[in-house]
Amino acid sequence: MRLNSAGRLIVFVLGEGAVIANVYLNNPPSEVLTRKGNFMGLLGTEANLFADMTLIAQTAGFLILLLGWRYAKRKNFLKHDKTSKASVLLGGLSFIWMGFSLVSNLVPLISVTLTGFVIFFHTITGTIALFMGLFLVLNEIKKTKTSMIIAFSLWTAAMFLGVMLYYLLFV
Ligand code: HEM
Repeated sequence: MRLNSAGRLIVFVLGEGAVIANVYLNNPPSEVLTRKGNFMGLLGTEANLFADMTLIAQTAGFLILLLGWRYAKRKNFLKHDKTSKASVLLGGLSFIWMGFSLVSNLVPLISVTLTGFVIFFHTITGTIALFMGLFLVLNEIKKTKTSMIIAFSLWTAAMFLGVMLYYLLFV
């Protein structure tokens, strides 16, 4: 697969992010990794720093995506392209924490509870949305109105379920 410059940038940032997260998570201040009951975060809830940064980055990414949707409606495709890339970048960076959290908490997270169902559907919609977004900006999927509407709808659902998840886990 040949990558253009945006693709190379995304892969580079994701790689760097993974290295930083890996070093940090292998030598964490002990409170950072606990799931609830600490106040190490930014938003004053019981979430840790990474969960708060994820919520902030994903919210910013979603707002940028909405802006991109408006640009597309106004046929300003250059700005639409740039905003979509920024959203995918923020989504990709957030994925480092979410993927780590999913794997390290798999047993307690996946359960027959409301939280378990939200995680399940969040992971399904989020994975498809994120990879569709990535493949769209990398020109690996044909950029049609339909493919973009599907990616956008799944992204919106993942965002909604992600906020719900944050509420269920930490508020
Ligand atoms: C467009 C795609 C996605 C969006 C908009 C999104 C959004 C969010 C938001 C806003 C949160 C709450 C912040 C937090 O608790 O960290 C969250 C949490 C989470 N997401 Fe996603 N997400 C997406 C994709 C994914 C994917 C692909 C996975 C699968 C690995 C995933 C798994 C999780 C998990 C496990 C949490 C809980 C993290 C924690 O312990 O704090 N998400 N997501």
